[in-house]
Amino acid sequence: MAENSQNLMEKIVSLCKRRGFIYPGSDIYGGLANTFDFGPLGVELANNIKKSWWKNFVQNRSDIYGIDGGILMNPKIWEASGHIQGFIDILVECKKCHKRFRADQTSSKECPDCGGELTEAKKFVPMFKTFVGPVEDSASIAYLRPETAQAIFVNFKNIIDSFHPVLPFGIAQIGKAFRNEITLGNFIFRKLEFEQMEIEYFIQEKEWKKYFKDWKKEIEKWVTSLGVNKKNIRWRKHEKEELAHYSKYTEDVEYDFPFGGFRELYGLAYRTDFDLKNHSEKSGKDLKYVDLKTNEKFFPHVIEPSFGMERTMLMILSEAYCEEEIQPKADPPRAEKGVKRIILKFKPALAPIKAAIFPLLANKPDLIRKAREVYESLKKEFPVAWDDRGNIGKRYYAQDEAGTPFCITVDFDSLEKDDVTVRERDSMKQERIKIKELKEYLEEKLNE
Ligand code: GAP
Repeated sequence: MAENSQNLMEKIVSLCKRRGFIYPGSDIYGGLANTFDFGPLGVELANNIKKSWWKNFVQNRSDIYGIDGGILMNPKIWEASGHIQGFIDILVECKKCHKRFRADQTSSKECPDCGGELTEAKKFVPMFKTFVGPVEDSASIAYLRPETAQAIFVNFKNIIDSFHPVLPFGIAQIGKAFRNEITLGNFIFRKLEFEQMEIEYFIQEKEWKKYFKDWKKEIEKWVTSLGVNKKNIRWRKHEKEELAHYSKYTEDVEYDFPFGGFRELYGLAYRTDFDLKNHSEKSGKDLKYVDLKTNEKFFPHVIEPSFGMERTMLMILSEAYCEEEIQPKADPPRAEKGVKRIILKFKPALAPIKAAIFPLLANKPDLIRKAREVYESLKKEFPVAWDDRGNIGKRYYAQDEAGTPFCITVDFDSLEKDDVTVRERDSMKQERIKIKELKEYLEEKLNE
């Protein structure tokens, strides 16, 4: 990591806004705490993270089935899952301004904001409520899901009936989850509305330790494949008191975030047969699995790797952020000694823009026409950007900040020789490539 400090965090937040990755939510109205909007580069980065996850954990495997369940589900699901009773925050409330605070983070009896008297600690369910149908009464309450997992459990029987999978197998889902978080988050680390990438992996009870271990390895493998240094992650076992209501054993994989060090990146939980058993009981539907070899009928146990998309994004941004002083010879002839550049050293597969195309000068119609041709033909193949503002040096540094792996310049020689200069982001090395070979050149480099 480039720099492990609050300072680095501020730089990342500022870069994200400047370059169109992440904007504060509802900004022109003064914002809304713990909400953010993704800009054009943020949405590409998020999609690339999800694509990588889906390919690795669903498409490349034959034992995992993907689904996309609803955000709104029958509220009985949240009773059966134990969320109404067990998914709680312990909070105190100010009797004067009615603001709530986590009881474990408030030592005094006075409101930190207005000095008002605080209530005794009370249970608070951090699920967002809404109403389904024309009447707003207690019979029409529905919840925005606080985890994607439950859509997987309630579709367990559907998957068995459609695909007849044999244990062990998993069901995976990527989707939004919602939590009424009252602790102010560190940028996108803690949001009200976030995306989870979850797998419920169904196994025989006696094998849970083996599969728990296997999943630790799978998680590490994927995280490091994103370009994350292994020394920046570690595992932490949950104490008994902090285990979620459904879990018998949990370990978090933590990442060394630039604010405050190692924090939860993802959770890996042994959920036993808690969910299938409860849904079976409460729905009256038989959710047991039948082993066709032995005819044994039982509730499978579950190992649950649960990944947060935004925390992945924050990790990738922290890992990729880099500041460098440019040496005069490295990027001739425009760079000056002592000039700093900021680079997001994304792996090419994650980079929101794969290449940027520039005409050397913006006031030469021949150059513009040729550069436009290159841009239009590459645009069909990759996400690419066009820039003709300012001098080439400035355009390079803007793309370095966006994490674009390649910059392609069309100059006067291009008009004669049908070739371009390709400049690589990290090394700043430049080479001449024939226009007709550009697509293959980039394809090869982007897959490295
Ligand atoms: N189904 C299990 C589950 O939801 P969790 O530990 O509460 O477990 C899993 O959440 C992951 O979801 C976390 O490790 C984190 O990556 C992400 N996550 C949870 N709450 C979040 C929030 N408020 N904002 C962003 N990501 C969050």
